[in-house]
Amino acid sequence: MKAILFLICASSFAFADLPDYYFPDDFVFGTATASYQVEGGWNEDGKGESIWDVGTHEHADWVADNSNGDVACDSYHKYKEDVQLLKALGVNFYRFSISWPRILPDGKIDNVNQAGIDYYNNLINELLANGIEPYATMYHWDLPQPLQDEGGWPNRVLADYFVDYARVLFDNFGDRVKHWMTFNEIMSICELGYGQGSFAPYVNGPGVEDYQCTHTILLAHGRTYRLYDENYRSQQNGLVGIAIDTSWNEPNNPDSADDQQASEQAMQMNYGWFVNPVFNGNYPDIMIQRIHDISLQQGYSESRLPEFTADEQQMLKGTVDFLGLNHYTSYMVYLSDGGVGQPDHYADVGVVSYQDPSWPSSASSWLKEVPWGINRNLVWIKNHYGNPPVLITENGWSDTGELEDNGRVDYYRNYLYEILKAIHEDGCNVIGYTAWSLMDNFEWMSGYTQRFGLHYVDFNDPERPRTRKLSSYVFSNIVTTKHIDWDYKPDWPPTEN
Ligand code: NOJ
Repeated sequence: MKAILFLICASSFAFADLPDYYFPDDFVFGTATASYQVEGGWNEDGKGESIWDVGTHEHADWVADNSNGDVACDSYHKYKEDVQLLKALGVNFYRFSISWPRILPDGKIDNVNQAGIDYYNNLINELLANGIEPYATMYHWDLPQPLQDEGGWPNRVLADYFVDYARVLFDNFGDRVKHWMTFNEIMSICELGYGQGSFAPYVNGPGVEDYQCTHTILLAHGRTYRLYDENYRSQQNGLVGIAIDTSWNEPNNPDSADDQQASEQAMQMNYGWFVNPVFNGNYPDIMIQRIHDISLQQGYSESRLPEFTADEQQMLKGTVDFLGLNHYTSYMVYLSDGGVGQPDHYADVGVVSYQDPSWPSSASSWLKEVPWGINRNLVWIKNHYGNPPVLITENGWSDTGELEDNGRVDYYRNYLYEILKAIHEDGCNVIGYTAWSLMDNFEWMSGYTQRFGLHYVDFNDPERPRTRKLSSYVFSNIVTTKHIDWDYKPDWPPTEN
């Protein structure tokens, strides 16, 4: 008993000791989802097939629970309910993604699906009518299958198709959408989709196709930004960014120069790979150098990493109005022994990474709670890219479905506090925060076995009812008070559920 009392006192004493920082007045909060993960309606009203429709149908047994996104949360029909959940949370914005094949069933503009345009018009109007800003991601992984049939992202012609698609989005929604993210997580699209082949379209081309995929996407991003600048910005007055993911890579021994080098190498080659081009026009020097050298040792006549022309570099430079950061976890890193094997991005990076077994574990094997990692990640961005405006576009925690989700509550509080420190103690220009996710949804190859929602969704019920979890009340309290009240406890269990 004494020990318990001591622990309780010690922990509240620790919180009482922390400075009570507030989020700045103009700091914005939201939650995120993605079309394939929540919408369902996979073949309704003229929608075309995406690589995830085809992938999950052809290889049902590759998904943990043999599931797919055919119905998911049924947001295609229940979007009005989703908007009410957002309203009850009190968030400023909703980050959702637009399904390319719902708008352009073949991927190309010769066939525009008016029912798809209507769906997003309805969602956007419903959000605005409820005082919530629409933040739209143009591409969250559901590539129209016909474009995969042309080779997918490694084929540079896809940049042309993407820019055409972006024009349709600006024309139809740009009067009301003022925050655009071109792409979500190039690393997942290219490394998992075309390098390791563990995500749709399941292409196994490590160290080659992942680089080609990235190259096309970066060009598509840059050209979309320029399109907005030239044709839309003066009337629509919005912002165009991109959501890029990274973990923090901590030197195994912070005093070792080699381990510091490993940290920098991992950050540059797993993150700078995408961020350096949009700020500075090219891949990081260390990445260009290492892949060139390793490629030649492997017998290639030139680097496996494609090159940007001088014009492309000029075009790409400075193509984000805000930098979206998807951050979930951290790794410890040290340099690997090297050795030149088969082409592989991770071999090119040349570091070994691991997670400390003492870090709290979620339901996802890769996701451990390391709050200080987000702080170091933000400081790294500030120091490398001139303190740009950073919108945290994703951050969140998985479990197997508890309503009293204390693990998620701790995670959000601890990560948000480290973000407050980054703002107040380190001077980082963080402009907003997005919780992943509004509700449990289709977690890609893990199906419905890992739940990230602030709301529980019953996937066995055809109505897909949503239920508030404890974390939704705590998050809402932070959003509305703009600080972290460590003692806040809602009525639990709630009477309204
Ligand atoms: C990143 C992705 O953008 C999102 O789709 C996914 O569900 C979350 N991380 C959690 O893994």
